[in-house]
Amino acid sequence: MNDKMKRKVDLEKVINKYKAEKGGIISVLQEINREYGYLSEDALKLVAKKLDVPLIQVYSIATFYTAFSLKPRGRHLINVCLGTACFVKGGNRILEKLERELGIKAGETTKELRYSLDTVHCIGCCSLAPVIRIDEDAYGRLKQEKVPEILKKHK
Ligand code: FES
Repeated sequence: MNDKMKRKVDLEKVINKYKAEKGGIISVLQEINREYGYLSEDALKLVAKKLDVPLIQVYSIATFYTAFSLKPRGRHLINVCLGTACFVKGGNRILEKLERELGIKAGETTKELRYSLDTVHCIGCCSLAPVIRIDEDAYGRLKQEKVPEILKKHK
């Protein structure tokens, strides 16, 4: 079985798991987004077909929730806090350093799909401002010069 066929079988398994559930579309999309890192066009079409709902409805849900991505995401998600406390303490300078180091802008993903860079508004540890989060790890009282070292930990 080739990769494409295997992915389709796996997708069908996920869809079938939630088929009978009320509000199953969101659960299916959440699991696909979690498993594959994003919602491909093929995945959305298959969800629409299998759950027997119009494709436009699946698309509207996929584009409404910011937790869903329609583009491939990096293995590591970097969130730079630009909430008030972090902004005042130089969060924007940390963002600029990350953009320079990674060669991408906020909202983008590196070509080799290693990192996706996003901004957020307060991650709840303002006393450690400025703060970034990479996957589950938070880094506080951050200085620009620490950024390369932190990126190395998440290769
Ligand atoms: S403003 Fe950045 S953690 Fe609260």
